[in-house]
Amino acid sequence: MPHFAKPAEGSWTQHYPELGTGPVSYEDSISPEHYELERDAIFARTWLNVGRVEQLPRAGSYFTREIHAARTSVIIVRDTQGQIRAFHNICRHRGNKLVWQDYPGEETSGTFRQFTCKYHGWRYNLEGACTFVQQEPEFFDLDKSDYGLAPVQVDVWEGFIFVNLEAGNETPLAEYLGDFAAGLVGYPFDQMTQVFKYRANVGSNWKLFIDAFAEFYHAPVLHAKQSVSDESRKLQGYGFEGLWYALDGPHGMVSSWGGMSPPKDPSMVKPIERVLHSGLFGPWERPDIEGLDPLPPGLNPARHPAWGIDSFVFFPNFMLLVWAPGWYLTYHYWPSSYNTHIFEGGLYFVPPKNARQRLQQELAAVTFKEYALQDGNTLEATQTMLESRAVSEFPLNDQEILLRHLHATARGYVAAHAGRDGETSVRISAAS
Ligand code: FES
Ligand SMILES: [Fe+2]
Repeated sequence: MPHFAKPAEGSWTQHYPELGTGPVSYEDSISPEHYELERDAIFARTWLNVGRVEQLPRAGSYFTREIHAARTSVIIVRDTQGQIRAFHNICRHRGNKLVWQDYPGEETSGTFRQFTCKYHGWRYNLEGACTFVQQEPEFFDLDKSDYGLAPVQVDVWEGFIFVNLEAGNETPLAEYLGDFAAGLVGYPFDQMTQVFKYRANVGSNWKLFIDAFAEFYHAPVLHAKQSVSDESRKLQGYGFEGLWYALDGPHGMVSSWGGMSPPKDPSMVKPIERVLHSGLFGPWERPDIEGLDPLPPGLNPARHPAWGIDSFVFFPNFMLLVWAPGWYLTYHYWPSSYNTHIFEGGLYFVPPKNARQRLQQELAAVTFKEYALQDGNTLEATQTMLESRAVSEFPLNDQEILLRHLHATARGYVAAHAGRDGETSVRISAAS
C-alpha cells in the first residue's frame, strides 16, 4: 500500500490552530444535559438532510421524517405544481399527528391527494391549506384560511432535500453547505437511483458513530477479518494514511486511496470479489454515464492517481461518500437520546443493466453491512466505558482531525446558543 506525504509544513491538524492538539473530553457524548442542549442548539437550527427528490416522483408523493432530536415530525411532499414543501406533521385542530400509519412513531411514505386527520377529519391540501373542518359552523368565528399546516423551511441541493426547523433561519442551504458542496455540483447523483438502505438502532451517542466513519485508519485493525489474511497483515504493518483532510466551517472531509477497486493484485481480495469484480469499494467497472469524467473539481483534492473515495461530513448528521468507481453512499445519524441513535446507511448505484451488475451491487451492499455491524458493536462498547468516566480525556492523532473538529463544532453550537439564550432573557427582563 502506498504511503503519501503530509502537507509540506506541519500536520493536517496544525493547519487549523484553533483546534489545538491536546487530548479531548468526551463528556459531550455521555452527558444527558449536553444532549438536551444539542437538541435546541444544533438539530432545531441547522439544515438537515431528510432524503432525495427521487423519493417524491409525482404530485402528492410524500414521506415523513421523525426528527426526535428536534422534537418534531415533518411531512415532506411534492405539491400539485411539482414544488417540494415541508410541514410540521401536526393537525391544526387539536394537535394530532397528521400523517402516520399503524404506529404513530414510525415513518411512512406514499401518495396523497390531500391530508386527512384521523381524529376528527380536518383536511389539508398539498400546499398545506386547510380545506375542510368537520362541523365547521359549530366553531367560533373560525376562518379555515388561518389554519394551514405549519410550514418548515425546505431546500434542495443536487437532489438532496434539506429542512431547517429554525423559524426565521436566514442562511441559505447552499451557503450553509459551503465549499465542499459547491465542489460537488454536477456529480450525476440523479442517475444513481438503484438504492440499498440499512437502518439500525445503535447504542451510542450520535457523534461517536460519525467519529468511526470520519477516519479510515481503524479499518485495517477493526475490520482485519474482512480482507484476505496476507493483505490484512500488510495493511496493519504499513498503517493507513489518508490522501487529504480538509475543514470548511462546520463541515469536514477526508480523501482516501482506493487500491481495492480494482485491486492491483487479485490476491488482495476474496475469491467472491475476484469472481464478481466487486467488494466494499463497489463494482470495479465504472458505469458509462455523463458526469463522471471529468469529475467535479471538489473530488480527489490531492489529484492522486490512486484516489478511491472522498468522504464528506456535513454537519451535523449527514455524510456523503463518493467512490471512484461511480457510486455513492450516504450516512445519517438521528439521535434518539444522549446514548442512542438511529443510523441509516444508503448505497446509490446506476441501475444495473444485467444480472451480473445487480450481483456486483448486492455484494457491495452486503459487504458494507458487515463493516457497519463491526463498527456498530465497537461503538456500544465504547459508549458504555466512556460512561464509566474512569478516564476523562483522550488523545487524538493527526488523522483524527475530523473527530476533533466535529466535537469542537458541536460544543461551539451549544455555547453560541447558550449565549443567544442569555441575550434573549436579558432582553425579556429588560422589557418587562
Ligand atoms: S385533531 Fe385533527 S381533526 Fe381534530
Ligand atoms: Fe469502520
